Amino acid sequence: MDEVKKGLEGVVVDESRVCMVDGDEGKIWYAGYDMDDLARESSYEELLFLLWNDRLPTADELDGIRTEVQERRALPDGVAEVIDREAERTGPMDLLRTSVSALASYDDEPNDLEDPADKCLGVVAKMPTVIARAHRVREGKDPVEPRDDLGHAANFLYMLNGQEPSEGEASAMDSTFILYAEHGMNASTFSACVTASTLANVYSSMTSAVGTLQGPLHGGATETVIDMLEDVGDASNAESYVEEKVSNKEKLPGFGHRVYNTVDPRCAHFKRHIEEINPDAELLGVADAVRDEVEARLGDKGIWPNTDLYSGTLYRELGIPAPFYTTLFAASRAAGWSAHIAEQLEDNRIMRPRVNFVGETGREYVPVDER
Ligand code: CMC
Repeated sequence: MDEVKKGLEGVVVDESRVCMVDGDEGKIWYAGYDMDDLARESSYEELLFLLWNDRLPTADELDGIRTEVQERRALPDGVAEVIDREAERTGPMDLLRTSVSALASYDDEPNDLEDPADKCLGVVAKMPTVIARAHRVREGKDPVEPRDDLGHAANFLYMLNGQEPSEGEASAMDSTFILYAEHGMNASTFSACVTASTLANVYSSMTSAVGTLQGPLHGGATETVIDMLEDVGDASNAESYVEEKVSNKEKLPGFGHRVYNTVDPRCAHFKRHIEEINPDAELLGVADAVRDEVEARLGDKGIWPNTDLYSGTLYRELGIPAPFYTTLFAASRAAGWSAHIAEQLEDNRIMRPRVNFVGETGREYVPVDER
């Protein structure tokens, strides 16, 4: 029997130039550039260009990708109709997954893999439109059509709330898109690559990734963290809350990571934006108190805060309701998914691991009426 690497821990599946996550130093490098610099200085559109082309764009190229994203934001009528019909009774991640999948129906050549980044651009551009529309329908409000004079992040908040965001809000939103844009070979990216490795079309690969992100061990933690912070309620309750969870050996959402042996570097950026928008944010003090208690009890075991500890609190301050947090993680990570899909297709080999068979062999088949 071969050694089983449960959860594929430590398995290296390929080489990549897209992103390096240094879990010991707590650093993320997007195509060689420091995530800390990009989160402060860059824009999501610039990051798309960087991840897809392995270099920063010139001013003209940046204008070009901004225009392309703007021009491809509007949803095909058929997708808008699905959202309008299903949004009230369907979870936002289920609806996003269905919408991404449905976009294939409106591409004349969905199976063309000549320029996967270009096909993915159409999906990336539309994901915020899907999310904002689903939110408005759930609220009983008229959908707001995308504008072609706003950046990706500002336009999302405009479509969500029906009014232009302040510069600070738009910049914080843009930063969230950048912070979640890419993170190496995480579960949803791997899922996208597995699907792409069969030479399925990019709509299938992106749909696989959205589905994989949904779970609470991955992107879904953005929402379960908020449930936890609301349960704690007040910073003064953090000690007893964490004590009880730790003694019951329960996992706390927003903590722990396969790659990091230290604090996830994205936490500081989410926290900085919350403090800029609302230093008195209700859940910020609770999150900090829970963090202190978990670090004191589990820090020496290598359990540190991950990015999801603060992201939901920032989304909340931006007026985004909790059931939509994972969809925003997805809309951001779509940049990384598409870069990895393109990289996979450049030098493809189908993913096909094995399992050690531990069942019986040689069992005799008995027809159903003789059992
Ligand atoms: N709270 C308490 N204990 C934990 C936690 C946690 N959040 N995470 C891991 N542990 C313990 C776990 O109980 C185990 O202890 P023991 O060895 O005594 O049984 C040990 O640490 C190793 O845990 P694991 O589950 O084997 O670690 P993993 O690498 O398989 O899982 C993880 C990583 C992120 C799924 C896990 O840490 C977790 O479930 N965290 C909570 C959910 C969460 O916040 N997910 C978002 C991850 S960051 C965003 C993203 O990439 O999606």
